[in-house]
Amino acid sequence: MKIVSGNSYEELCQRAAVIFSEQIRKKPDSVLGLATGSTPLGLYRELVRLYEAGRLDFSQIRTVNLDEYYPLRPEHPQSYHYYMQENLFGHVNLRAENCYLPDGAAPDPALACVAYDQRIEQLGGIDLQLLGLGENGHIGFNEPGSELCADTHLTELSESTVHANARFFANEAEVPRRAITMGMAGILKARRILLIAYGKKKHAAVAALLDNRITPQVPATLLKLHPDVTVLCDGGAFLG
Ligand code: F6R
Repeated sequence: MKIVSGNSYEELCQRAAVIFSEQIRKKPDSVLGLATGSTPLGLYRELVRLYEAGRLDFSQIRTVNLDEYYPLRPEHPQSYHYYMQENLFGHVNLRAENCYLPDGAAPDPALACVAYDQRIEQLGGIDLQLLGLGENGHIGFNEPGSELCADTHLTELSESTVHANARFFANEAEVPRRAITMGMAGILKARRILLIAYGKKKHAAVAALLDNRITPQVPATLLKLHPDVTVLCDGGAFLG
């Protein structure tokens, strides 16, 4: 695991954008694994800027997102479908048919989960997976617990995640209690992983990434099993 520290959120996003740009230029039909939440916003802004400057072409790129609330319709302003449209898809030349997210409105979520993993396989797997980090150490919505799921699955959000994500909703009661998320095996199958952690709130989870334990109580520690992980973090996340 490679740890790279930066002085500011902007610097982390610049560094992440360099890694994404290199991937896109090296393999123009890359499969990019994408995340939502606050952390990737600066990266997405930078990718849009590079596209507008004529320096990036997304026309052949395929994307798969980590997760989506359940049940939540794609038109809902807090859905991850909506977020991706607002923050990336709507601003670059990605083709709509090349962008995949778990279906938060699926009548049969178990079937939708199987179909999602099959889709990722059909695409040839993920070349570069972006991850944020939950304050409780979750990645995707793989929440701390005594066991973890391998494949894409419907999961209950932990109370701490509901609380942390309430800032995006009118109030905590409106946060969906469930989500469809890629599982740990799905994430670890990505050929390369880039995790961004910003701010003191992420320090405990980052500290667990740096010590020698692998535990389902901090799902991100499973990243230690992957041969090509880069962690970009600022002083707050690194030092507390
Ligand atoms: C979002 C996701 C989550 C977030 C994490 C951090 O798609 O998978 O694991 O990355 O909850 O969220 P922020 O960036 O809002 O602190």
